[in-house]
Amino acid sequence: MFRRLALTCAALLSVVSAQLVVTSPGANDWWVASSVNTLAWSCTSSPYLNFTILLANSNLSILPAPLAIVAVQQNFDCSESITQQQSAQPAGSGYVIQLASTLNETDIYAESQPFEIKALGSSYPTTTSSAGSTPTGSASAGAAQATKTGGALAEYVPVGMSMVAALALSLVVA
Ligand SMILES: *[C@@H]1O[C@H](CO)[C@@H](O)[C@H](O)[C@H]1NC(C)=O
Ligand SMILES: *[C@@H]1O[C@H](CO)[C@@H](O)[C@H](O)[C@H]1NC(C)=O
Ligand SMILES: *[C@@H]1O[C@H](CO)[C@@H](O)[C@H](O)[C@H]1NC(C)=O
Repeated sequence: MFRRLALTCAALLSVVSAQLVVTSPGANDWWVASSVNTLAWSCTSSPYLNFTILLANSNLSILPAPLAIVAVQQNFDCSESITQQQSAQPAGSGYVIQLASTLNETDIYAESQPFEIKALGSSYPTTTSSAGSTPTGSASAGAAQATKTGGALAEYVPVGMSMVAALALSLVVA
């Protein structure tokens, strides 16, 4: 029984360890139109070296087709400041960021939570406000978001904990 549990945990561990997740914008974040906005992803667990960044919306009257805003993004950058030239999108809700294969933009590696683009002049979300004014702030924005309870990372953190449990279990079984 312990062995089966350990195997299940090990399977979970391998899935978790090779995952690309958009960490910002998260569920409670937004972007500001005609402004510099921050995009961040789980670069340390990403199985991909590079990808194309797309902006999409399920409402086709807002965005008829996904828009490639960065053709080739290197994974090791971990975050990117998206300028108004790259994303000249009007305010609206239901936007998602997609990280896709550079060779096939419909092969989507990861998709963000739906988020809103607010009108020019709106304040940035508190977790990314420092990142909005200084590009170097994006790492601390990610850290701030990890402690947030309502965000997408709230699900991610317990999984991280069970990873530790899985490691401990496999040690016990071995
Ligand atoms: C992107 O990654 C692939 C491997 O997944 C590699 O073959 C390719 O050269 C990379 N492209 C760039 C522009 O870094
Ligand atoms: C899609 O966007 C348009 C323009 O913003 C809006 O009028 C319409 O209500 C939206 N449709 C849905 C289903 O949200
Ligand atoms: C591109 O990716 C999609 C989704 O994974 C797949 O269905 C399609 O066959 C791919 N196209 C090519 C040309 O490989």
